[in-house]
Amino acid sequence: MKNMETSTKELKNFFTQKLMEWNVSENDRELPWKHIENPYFIWLSEIILQQTRAEQALPYYLKFTENYPTVEDLANAPEDEVMKMWEGLGYYSRARNLHFAAKYIVLEKGGQFPNTHKEILKLKGVGPYTAAAIASFAFKLPYAVVDGNVYRVLSRFFGIETPIDSTEGKKQFAKLAQELIDTEKPDQYNQAIMDFGARQCSPAKPLCMFCPMNVHCEAYLKGKTGEWPIKSKKIKKRERFFHYLLVGDGIGFFIKKRTEKGIWRNLYDFPLIETNKELDDEALKELIEKKLKKDEIGKVLVSKNYVHLLTHQKINVKFVEIKNKDQQLSNKALQYVMPEDLKNYAFPKVILRFFEEKGIIC
Ligand code: ADE
Repeated sequence: MKNMETSTKELKNFFTQKLMEWNVSENDRELPWKHIENPYFIWLSEIILQQTRAEQALPYYLKFTENYPTVEDLANAPEDEVMKMWEGLGYYSRARNLHFAAKYIVLEKGGQFPNTHKEILKLKGVGPYTAAAIASFAFKLPYAVVDGNVYRVLSRFFGIETPIDSTEGKKQFAKLAQELIDTEKPDQYNQAIMDFGARQCSPAKPLCMFCPMNVHCEAYLKGKTGEWPIKSKKIKKRERFFHYLLVGDGIGFFIKKRTEKGIWRNLYDFPLIETNKELDDEALKELIEKKLKKDEIGKVLVSKNYVHLLTHQKINVKFVEIKNKDQQLSNKALQYVMPEDLKNYAFPKVILRFFEEKGIIC
């Protein structure tokens, strides 16, 4: 028993040591959010990085830090402007939470960014992962990050088969991650495991042949990299069908702000017909006639289907272009806009994809 404990301990030490060496060799890619201690900038980068990979995150990070160099600047910015700056990243609640938390820091904390893990966790939109990242990067506090990358690396190296989406698995991985952290250099350790998971121990094609840990990696030794980590459930996605009515006179068209709760709140879109199954043209026409007045309907052109995938939803979007000579509709919530004004409004990504294919620049 004693031997086994010792060997487990040795294995953990081996893991941490190799990971730290991996980081300081040629693998520490310079990015503007690395090796900084400004908690506000670190927070911005972490929220953006929740959404996308480093290359895509970079222009957003630069835009945010240039336009809002302090948390006060972000807190004082108009919401529409923040949403526009986030446009294209998806999951807009993250941008709303960012803005909300900035105001909270300014109004409730005197503009002082919280400096303990517990206080950081209280920020809206900050979960355990982001709190651990900020606490370690900005304040050198020993909190280990745990996310999909970390689950993958640990389950493969240590051969853990507990499903990562089970309560037991979450506990087990969190405990192990916390045991592994280099408490003297928690910032470097967390950065290393994030980068290692993204670049060396990647999901589909891990670079096992050139991995400094492969001699003790259970997945590599047993040929299980493709199977680990194990998930018990498949996420069931709700399927939705959106039919956006682009009513216009051939020059401009009508847009509206989504004020209701749920996805894309405070972004702009168009009059919408939503169904829970696919419609044929006839059924769609009937619904359009119910939604618009007869003299508001002219020539109708239906686009192809655009699929927008979210974690729990599959949204099928069709754009229905409707020619209408009037620049006023009976629905007063609608705004008539010219294509050149679209840059002032933030739209969901799927609408941007449609604009791009139509050659509409915004
Ligand atoms: N993903 C989330 N935070 C990250 C970071 N700091 N570096 C690399 N990938 C990340």
